[in-house]
Amino acid sequence: MKVLVIGSGGREHSLVWKIAQSPLVSKIFCAPGNPGISELAECVDIAADQTGRLCKFAVKENIDLTVVGPEAPLVDGIVDTFNKYKLKVFGPDKKAAILEDSKVFSKCLLKKHGIPTADFKCIDDYQYARSYILSREAPIVVKADGLSKGKGVFVCKTTDEALHAIDSIMKDKVFGSAGNQVVIEECLIGEEISLLAFTDGRNIVAMESSQDHKTVFDGDKGPNTGGMGAYSPVPIMTSELYLRIERDILVPTVHAMNREGRPYKGVIYIGLMITSSGPMVLEFNVRFGDPEAQVILSRMKSDIVPIMLATISGELDKVDLEWFPEASVCVVIASGGYPGSYDKGKGITGLDLLNDQDGISVFHAGTKSVDGKIVTNGGRVLNVVACGEDIEAAQKKVYEAVSKISFDGAHYRRDIASKAIT
Ligand SMILES: Nc1ncnc2c1ncn2[C@@H]1O[C@H](COP(=O)(O)OP(=O)(O)O)[C@@H](O)[C@H]1O
Ligand SMILES: [Mg+2]
Repeated sequence: MKVLVIGSGGREHSLVWKIAQSPLVSKIFCAPGNPGISELAECVDIAADQTGRLCKFAVKENIDLTVVGPEAPLVDGIVDTFNKYKLKVFGPDKKAAILEDSKVFSKCLLKKHGIPTADFKCIDDYQYARSYILSREAPIVVKADGLSKGKGVFVCKTTDEALHAIDSIMKDKVFGSAGNQVVIEECLIGEEISLLAFTDGRNIVAMESSQDHKTVFDGDKGPNTGGMGAYSPVPIMTSELYLRIERDILVPTVHAMNREGRPYKGVIYIGLMITSSGPMVLEFNVRFGDPEAQVILSRMKSDIVPIMLATISGELDKVDLEWFPEASVCVVIASGGYPGSYDKGKGITGLDLLNDQDGISVFHAGTKSVDGKIVTNGGRVLNVVACGEDIEAAQKKVYEAVSKISFDGAHYRRDIASKAIT
């Protein structure tokens, strides 16, 4: 089989790495890819949002399966376009991808179908949003409706902060039309878990649990990022809790999408807060998380390709999904200044020291090859992943590996997965 993976981050590198292990696959292309990916796949110089060119490429190369990594092309309807050309493509269509594209849609869906989530109000008027906030008590959470690259959510400790958030979203339009509406919701307290599942719209096959670390500094301090690290499995995810999430959230959501005439096929990612009154939905994503994919895929024992094919054909009831019992920890090494502004083009050393090290993978995110040398080219630069007997062992191993890599200004969190140990 020939496979095309769309995207260029650490998530896509781990997808390519996993797909490359499939005996069904003879050739992998990645558009646009990155220098790490180019060791496993042929990188094609087409951006992830150039649907027309990607589709032409897939037709010309007789691609048997296309896997879409990021959310933006899914929300733009890349799956609909590929389907028109009878190309097999993994991911939800535009109608179903609204689950991530609009927080207003997803909150209304949850409410309508009685699925647990924070109490909320959707507002499209600036003045009304202000007076609503003034009528509520802090802490309070303000969310831009649309895609905002993980920066559109403000967890506000004070009313003033919330009013500022409304100003940036609705008046200054820092997220453009993604801020035409806001969701203002109750602030939940608890531990966060990401639960991802394959679904063909009828059958649901859940993956192992994972936890992301959103903020830039240790101890969950500082501004939010695209994700500074992750681990899997999450100890608080007992089988009892999983069954409750499956019964009260996962199954009802997939069925709700069917009833709305938006059947969902692909990976559904549920961001959950485990509160004292049970699990509640924070948000949905319509694809693998980044860096959750990196830890989940390194623990996946089964070949992922038949599972993706079964998701597309509606035959997920016929496949098995097996896992390695080892734990996995991923640490993101970022450019100095990230998530604010940062320089690019810093030479990276130490990558060769980690080649072929047992149980260690280095997935590239923001890197570039210049005259055969790897240099930094983004905010999140590298993802180092280690597997070990338990979280503690994996954490020790990952930080030993991370310490071998350096570039000017490099920074990373030192406490990834510590929560799962103490
Ligand atoms: N209702 C809430 N109560 C407390 N924290 C929240 C709430 N909603 C979101 N958050 C925090 O904000 C983060 C980002 O929110 P999320 O809804 O996942 O949006 P996005 O990933 O699109 O930025 C969450 O991971 C969580 O830490
Ligand atoms: Mg999120």
